[in-house]
Amino acid sequence: MARLTDFISPSILSADFASLGQEVDNVIKSGADVVHFDVMDNHYVPNLTIGPLVCDALRKHGVTAEIDVHLMCTPVDQLINDFAKAGASYITFHPDASTHVDRSLQLTRELGCKSGLVFNPAAPLDVLEYVMDKVDLIMLMSVNPGFGGQSFIPSTLTKLKQVRKMIDDSGFDIRLEVDGGVKANNIKEIKEAGADMFVAGSAIFGAKNDNDPEHYNTIINEFRSELAKASV
Ligand code: DX5
Ligand code: ZN
Repeated sequence: MARLTDFISPSILSADFASLGQEVDNVIKSGADVVHFDVMDNHYVPNLTIGPLVCDALRKHGVTAEIDVHLMCTPVDQLINDFAKAGASYITFHPDASTHVDRSLQLTRELGCKSGLVFNPAAPLDVLEYVMDKVDLIMLMSVNPGFGGQSFIPSTLTKLKQVRKMIDDSGFDIRLEVDGGVKANNIKEIKEAGADMFVAGSAIFGAKNDNDPEHYNTIINEFRSELAKASV
């Protein structure tokens, strides 16, 4: 099956929150495809971030790029409703954060969003067997969720290969996203293991262009040139 085009999805967790609208504009102008929006509830993960009001504010600011909402929260159904209203494009949740995974996936699609499931580094993939027809996106955490700036966990590569095979065997157009510790020196290997959507927070927002601090195209171009070298 033909692979989908690579998407680079900067995680705004590492952006300057005091000028978030401008940061998102800059990263999209610099060539990013999607905006990764990390929602933490100080319950499912030990950190607290941003909610639907901020997503809505980005839309009102004029952001037209797809917004990839990653819920690290439990429960999820009310937030799925709220983020759909706030302009989310993708809504992804952890299966262990919803009592009724199938229902939450259906709800996401009924509200007009693309549905996604995300798996922690030590989480089994078994639920996927029953819902491949209800997901538009599968995301693998390559760090433990809760914080930016952690190191990529190498066993994710094996897991990516497993999920890539499941997607190819299913015949559905499902995106395979990886989240955590993605850098210019490992993105090629991550693509070769099967990913086609790459979240990067600290690597992108920590790399403003020296002569043009408002732009991130040097690092995004470096990602693209590494991706182009991949043997898939
Ligand atoms: C972690 C978040 C990630 C995080 C990635 O819980 O889900 O999206 O921002 O940050 P980096 O790219 O710095 O590992
Ligand atoms: Zn994330």
